[in-house]
Amino acid sequence: KDMIVESDQLLDWYDRHARVMPWRVSPADRKAGVRPNPYHVWMSEVMLQQTTVAAVRDYHVKFTTLWPTVQDLAAAPDSDVMEAWAGLGYYARARNLLKCARAVVADHGGVFPQTLEGLLALPGVGPYTAAAVAAIAYDVPATVVDGNVERVMSRLFNVETPLPKAKPELTVHAARLTPDTRPGDYAQAVMDLGATICTPKSPACVICPLTAGCLARAAGTAATLPRKLPK
Ligand code: ADE
Repeated sequence: KDMIVESDQLLDWYDRHARVMPWRVSPADRKAGVRPNPYHVWMSEVMLQQTTVAAVRDYHVKFTTLWPTVQDLAAAPDSDVMEAWAGLGYYARARNLLKCARAVVADHGGVFPQTLEGLLALPGVGPYTAAAVAAIAYDVPATVVDGNVERVMSRLFNVETPLPKAKPELTVHAARLTPDTRPGDYAQAVMDLGATICTPKSPACVICPLTAGCLARAAGTAATLPRKLPK
C-alpha cells in the first residue's frame, strides 16, 4: 500500500507535536526503536473510554506504580483496585480491567495477545480497545475510530451525512489513511490532531498540517462537521 500524503504529513506533525502522556514513548526513544508497554497502553485505553486525557493521567501513573505488571494487577484484591479507581467513574470499567488482567495471566502467560482477534476475545475488550492496543502496542495496521477520528475524517473528506449514519463511511476513510508503517503513531496522531487542532467548535485550520488537502476547509464547512442527527 502506498503511503498516502495525509498519513505522511500527520506522522511528521506527530513527531514534532505529540502530546506527552505516561503510556507513550518519547520521540527520542521512538526513534531508537523503543516500543510502548502493551499493559500500559491497554490500561490507558480502558481509562480513556469515558474520561479525558487530563483526568486519566494521574490515575494511570497511580495504577502502574501500585501494580507495575499485569501479573501484579491480576493478583490485587478487588477492593484495592476499586478503591484506587475511586473518582474515575464508570466502575464497570474497573471490574472489567481486573477481569481482563486475570484472563491475560491465566490464559496468555501474562502477555497481551498481539492480534485483533486475540485481543477481542479478552473480557471487556471491544472493537475500539482491541484496535487501539493492536495498533499502538504492536503496530498492527488496525483502524482506530473514536470521536476525534470521526470528526477529522468528516472534515478531510467533507462528509455531510450526519452521524450516526456516516459512521461506516468515516470508518472506510480512516482505514484507507491507516499506513502499514507506524499505524500506532498514526492513530494517536489523528487523536491528538482532533484534540488540539481539529477541535469541535473552532478548528485551528491555519496551523493544521492537513489544511492543503482538507475538503471541508476548501468548502468552508469545517466548523459545522460532523453533522449530527438531532436526538
Ligand atoms: N484517546 C484514547 N486513546 C488515546 C491515545 N492513545 N492518545 C490520545 N488520546 C486518546
